[in-house]
Amino acid sequence: MHEKFTALTPPLYEYLLRHNPPQDDVQAALAEETAALGPVSMMQIAVEQGVFLTWLTRLLGVRFAVEVGTFTGYSALSIARGLPPGGRLLCCDVSEEWTGIARRHWERAKVADRIELRIAPAIETLKALPRTTPVDLAFIDADKTSYRAYYEELLPRLSPNGVIVFDNVLWGGSVVDAAKNDENTAAIRALNDFVVSDARVDAVMLPVADGITLVRRRAS
Ligand SMILES: C[S@@+](CC[C@H](N)C(=O)[O-])C[C@H]1O[C@@H](n2cnc3c(N)ncnc32)[C@H](O)[C@@H]1O
Repeated sequence: MHEKFTALTPPLYEYLLRHNPPQDDVQAALAEETAALGPVSMMQIAVEQGVFLTWLTRLLGVRFAVEVGTFTGYSALSIARGLPPGGRLLCCDVSEEWTGIARRHWERAKVADRIELRIAPAIETLKALPRTTPVDLAFIDADKTSYRAYYEELLPRLSPNGVIVFDNVLWGGSVVDAAKNDENTAAIRALNDFVVSDARVDAVMLPVADGITLVRRRAS
């Protein structure tokens, strides 16, 4: 029994949200437009993850960030808001339609000039990244079966204090459900097993939303 574990009930989640910075008008409008897309809207990160990404971007003094999986732009907006003047965010996605929504809200939030969006399979965009431009923060939230490939492209490009954040590492609880053996679940399990014992990195898995893992390179 893990005595320190506090189950996040709906009232407790409401309490948590009330003790985080509230969404502003652009974030609320973006979330509302995304919700109107239907069930697919559940791909959007949770509100507190947005707060966390902005906070982490500021903490790390991120000059260059990479996002893999942009959708309608909530996580990108959160990262972009934490960037200092001159800071840049490269977004990778394959959907013109969803990122079209993102672009409009980035304009409204006045962060569009910090964001470059590449519409292509993310692995191609990452492989083409020069190794001379250090990545200070990477947020990975796209196709789960490619997480490991994204990791291997991003890890050597990380700056000395750079951090990779993986989203959905608990995959709705499927990681511990023996009946779940679809390719996404298998990929997330394999990634989690690999990262925790990867001697190149220090990693921490946290029960934020659907689970996040933060990874930094070990000093060699
Ligand atoms: C979970 S959503 C991202 C949610 C986003 N981070 C947010 O906060 O709203 C996953 C996104 O990954 C994109 N995607 C899926 N496969 C991809 C690939 N091979 N390369 C790039 N993007 C991909 C999808 O188009 C989708 O927009």
